[in-house]
Amino acid sequence: MNINLLIKLSNNCYWEPKTQAVIYDNHPVPLTSNMTTLLTLLIEHYDRPISSIDIFFHIWDDYDKEFNPKHIRSLISNLRKRLPCLIINNYYGGHYVLKKFRDNIPDITDYVLEILDQAKNGLTISDPNQPDNPVIFVNEAFTDLFGYTSEEVIGRNCRFLQGEDRDQTGLDEVREALSKQRDVTVTLRNYTKSGELIFNELTISPIFDKKNNKIKYFLGVQKNVTAVQKLIQQIKRMI
Ligand SMILES: Cc1cc2nc3c(=O)[nH]c(=O)nc-3n(C[C@H](O)[C@H](O)[C@H](O)COP(=O)(O)O)c2cc1C
Repeated sequence: MNINLLIKLSNNCYWEPKTQAVIYDNHPVPLTSNMTTLLTLLIEHYDRPISSIDIFFHIWDDYDKEFNPKHIRSLISNLRKRLPCLIINNYYGGHYVLKKFRDNIPDITDYVLEILDQAKNGLTISDPNQPDNPVIFVNEAFTDLFGYTSEEVIGRNCRFLQGEDRDQTGLDEVREALSKQRDVTVTLRNYTKSGELIFNELTISPIFDKKNNKIKYFLGVQKNVTAVQKLIQQIKRMI
């Protein structure tokens, strides 16, 4: 079994996107086709609530069938019974959300992560206490901007966004700020998964542990300033 092809849903529970199989405690868990469709939909919408109506018509895909919330309630309850390891919350009486499993940032609450996830700018959290300061959280605006999924980013140092374009003056400022544990704002040339150039106004701030004043995380804010940068370059060419 190739572990790279699995998404961790919770402790000892994995999802294989290609075959749509769930492995729980090292054993495959049989799901009905409706349960599989439901789980796929919930995973695609990690941390975001989906209404019963959307789930209903996604599963039955038949607008002649009359919407009945009971079908969804019982399907959710069967899925919970089959996979008690999942955290599926019920919001506003009729919206369901699958909570993303995060064992790497235990001291940041789900509530804070939800706020970060809804921010307009890209946000990343890295762990400088791990080798090479890997990313441990990215929000949706980040994955939308760069076209990578969170699974493709988490565990890597953010420098991969620079591709081969490593000769950038802003990077010296970043290196110095990180080593001195200070805030920094620079504009970097970054590249999306499909290779498109993006001017990224990046702000990095150290976050210290209040108990011992030691560095705990770095928070990165990624703002797409490509349009402004292109305009500046055009004006420079004109004069
Ligand atoms: C929280 C955080 C977010 C970062 N985000 C980006 C980013 O969006 N784009 C980028 O090119 N570099 C980003 N970096 C900077 C790189 O990770 C790295 O520090 C930089 O390339 C300089 O170090 P290096 O010489 O080891 O590559 C980020 C760093 C941190 C700590």
